[in-house]
Amino acid sequence: MTDALLAVVILAAGEGTRMKSSTAKVLHPIAGVPMIGHVLSTAAALRPSRTVAVVRHQRDAVASAIAELSDEVLIVDQDDVPGTGRAVELALAALNDFEGDIVVISGDVPLLDAETLTDLIDEHRQRERAASVLSALVDDPTGYGRIVRDDQGEFRRIVEHKDAADDELGISEVNSGAYVFRSTALRDSLASVGTANASGEKYLTDVIELIVGNSLAVGANPVYESWVVAGVNDRAQLSDVQARLNAMIVRGHQLNGVSIDDPATTWIDRAVSIEPDAHILPGTFLKGATSIARGAVVGPDTTLRDCEIGEDATVSRTDATLAVIEANAAVGPFSYLRPGTILGAGGKIGAFVETKNAKIGRGSKVPHLSYIGDTTVGEESNIGAGTITANYDGVAKHATVVGSHVRTGSHNVFVAPVTIADGAYTAAGTVVRRNVPAGALGMTVAQQRNVEGWVENNRSGTAAAEAATHATTESE
Ligand code: UD1
Ligand code: CA
Repeated sequence: MTDALLAVVILAAGEGTRMKSSTAKVLHPIAGVPMIGHVLSTAAALRPSRTVAVVRHQRDAVASAIAELSDEVLIVDQDDVPGTGRAVELALAALNDFEGDIVVISGDVPLLDAETLTDLIDEHRQRERAASVLSALVDDPTGYGRIVRDDQGEFRRIVEHKDAADDELGISEVNSGAYVFRSTALRDSLASVGTANASGEKYLTDVIELIVGNSLAVGANPVYESWVVAGVNDRAQLSDVQARLNAMIVRGHQLNGVSIDDPATTWIDRAVSIEPDAHILPGTFLKGATSIARGAVVGPDTTLRDCEIGEDATVSRTDATLAVIEANAAVGPFSYLRPGTILGAGGKIGAFVETKNAKIGRGSKVPHLSYIGDTTVGEESNIGAGTITANYDGVAKHATVVGSHVRTGSHNVFVAPVTIADGAYTAAGTVVRRNVPAGALGMTVAQQRNVEGWVENNRSGTAAAEAATHATTESE
């Protein structure tokens, strides 16, 4: 059920200069989701009747990312007047007839959760306030707006760091940049906010003093843990927030029954799903929409992007993208699985094997040193060590088809398009250019010829020649 009396305004128009990036600040990813995506999820969880995002810098990139993540957000463009106050003023104009409470949050505060905001909204409504500010008690308030209270402890105004007097700089309660406002009070007071301050901007924070002047109730409520409202202004803060969110995601999986040996070196994106009794070893990166079934063991030193790992499968020291590993299959160590790899139940992809667009059937194995691309392999077949599918003729890609119960020899080349039918064998060193029928042995015949005495005649005086002489005299 949506809250008809609630609207959310997300501020995302700022330049993000301190990121020193050609990517808009709010589009930097955190746990596989652009920063703004976390804020949009929080906003959606409040079930507001309207959501507005204010954009300006890198407008098109930010607006299209927002549209991709949510189809319920109204995009509003900020004009030349700078400042959070101006941004909210324009959002209000876009919300024209809305009456109720307006939550204002920033696109660069990704860890702020809906529960914290819901508590603030409840407090705001119960106390019939015109403005509620989410504050935080921090060790180092540098850069933040300070919450100024009077002798009775009543919240009176917010002063920005740049505009603060010396005694105000010592205040450790800061403005998080998240607020709830009654729409009427916000509209009235914003109209009177000017730009006479150290930054020459229209500050949203100036409305507090105006609302207090109109004898309406305001309040500031500190969060329990200040990291909830940590803002991202530079890359150091970005990695702090990434680490914090990752720690929460890892812990969530642990409490859900997943063994994770080393949270510090295990990075799990938000959309990853892992069943209980899976086991994640150190140095593992689980990205995108990866899913891992119960009993699977993944890692160490493994990166999976959008992969599906079946029950009791093992994947060790592997880099894989868009691969499906079915139950009880084994991958690694040192395997490179490119998109379209499907390894059937109980199958194996072993050391120094690269696969791409390869469907390897149940119980089939590619154990050693191979490249298998654009290939289907049936069930219970074994591909010999050092096999290369020559799938590209310089112009087009071609398919290799290997049937079931096939045994191919070591060091083969399958020159595609080619088929090795059910039950066939190929000899070691075969270059398979023609189809091998079911049950046949395919081999490229090049008879071995031994030139007797060649080393003694051509390399006399070498250790090899001496060894040869020794061996032939001994056997006489
Ligand atoms: C702001 C607050 C400060 C608070 C801090 C918390 C003001 C004046 N100050 O400061 O009290 O302690 O957040 O993190 O509000 N934005 C726009 N349009 C603009 C300017 C900014 O949409 O013209 C957006 C930014 O993209 C950002 C948010 O508003 O998402 C906050 O802006 P930022 O410049 O980061 O403000 P701070 O200096 O951090
Ligand atoms: Ca900020």
